Amino acid sequence: MAEVKLEHVFKEYPGQVQAVNDFDLLINNREFLVLVGPSGCGKSTTLRMIAGLEEITKGTISIGERVVNDVPPKDRDIAMVFQNYALYPHMTVYENLAFGLRLRHYPNDEIDRRVQEVARILGLLELLERKPKALSGGQRQRVAVGRAIVRKPAVFLFDEPLSNLDAKLRVEMRAELNKLHHRLKTTMIYVTHDQLEAMTLADRIVVMKDGWIQQVGRPLEIYDYPINAFVAGFIGTPPMNFLHGTLEDRNGTIFWTDGHGAVKLSDDVQSRVRSHVGRKTTFGVRPENIHDKAFHGEVSGETHLLCKVEVVEPLGDEQYVYLSEPRQEHMIIAKFDAHQKVSVGSEMEVLFNLERIHVFDEETGENISRENTQPVASTEKEGN
Ligand SMILES: Nc1ncnc2c1ncn2[C@@H]1O[C@H](COP(=O)(O)OP(=O)(O)OP(=O)(O)O)[C@@H](O)[C@H]1O
Ligand SMILES: [Mg+2]
Repeated sequence: MAEVKLEHVFKEYPGQVQAVNDFDLLINNREFLVLVGPSGCGKSTTLRMIAGLEEITKGTISIGERVVNDVPPKDRDIAMVFQNYALYPHMTVYENLAFGLRLRHYPNDEIDRRVQEVARILGLLELLERKPKALSGGQRQRVAVGRAIVRKPAVFLFDEPLSNLDAKLRVEMRAELNKLHHRLKTTMIYVTHDQLEAMTLADRIVVMKDGWIQQVGRPLEIYDYPINAFVAGFIGTPPMNFLHGTLEDRNGTIFWTDGHGAVKLSDDVQSRVRSHVGRKTTFGVRPENIHDKAFHGEVSGETHLLCKVEVVEPLGDEQYVYLSEPRQEHMIIAKFDAHQKVSVGSEMEVLFNLERIHVFDEETGENISRENTQPVASTEKEGN
């Protein structure tokens, strides 16, 4: 068990832009930290630097009390599971699990004890004598994870370990990993570009873009208080809607408007965005915070946004409703209860949950409606 500390870590590949810029973060002992971000943002590079597979250009990495900048991977007390985990095809599951311990000259009885224990935890006891080709994708994945945990490292590193699995298995393995983390109580650093994996597994999420950390926070903190439009758009499905317009002061009351519709902002938000009146601003609203005014009845408020229903996608438990608005280039996606009546081609006056909307500076992308006193990204691990 160990904490992992990255202090102002940079990575520059020769002849290449910076892959990682000023990565500065303390990952707590027993924390499940998830690095998320689009392809090429530097997630794997960060992980590989922690593992020692990639040299760092500048900065310091410590595992536990020890600076590991010059410590070779095998002496870092870490185990890594990759996307393309390769099991040894000619070895049984048992031997695959035992291999790392044999290399390290563990006595046979200790190897057997550990392999049996890990096989029990991961539900592999029945499969120990099989070769990898006789396993399903999910079972192979479990063997790959088993190979890592059998060594009882201080830190686990995962690089998109589930991305080769089909959707259903991914969900299952996600739950397994969650369980495993609670059971092992070991520091885990997990890379994915799947925001659902990030939301469901993480104690804290790090959102990266172009080598830079955008935001660090607990999953709901990131979902509810995204620091900028990038983070807001990256986390959430369907993604947050962005409507382009300006802020207008109407007799002291601040509205967001695009010249067709207008939204009266809540008192709290008004007080925070006042200095942006007259500037181009993006109004951000998540699909679940959009409502049909006709369905919800007359609600006091001076919001008027008239849309046309273009497409309805029933999903069983809910439906996605695609709305067009004359001044907006992109359709607005709303998420309604499946049984709410919506007719394609009809007009709909929409309402927003004003406690849950965001206002972004169009130029910088900064979320200007976000309270500055958001709970600071916690370094305390909850529970355990
Ligand atoms: N060995 C290398 N040599 C040169 N450039 C590299 C090397 N490895 C990665 N890069 C570059 O560094 C940047 C970060 O790459 P990295 O693999 O960390 O991205 P990632 O976030 O893991 O992306 P993905 O989601 O696609 O796996 C990219 O621009 C990539 O092209
Ligand atoms: Mg990667």
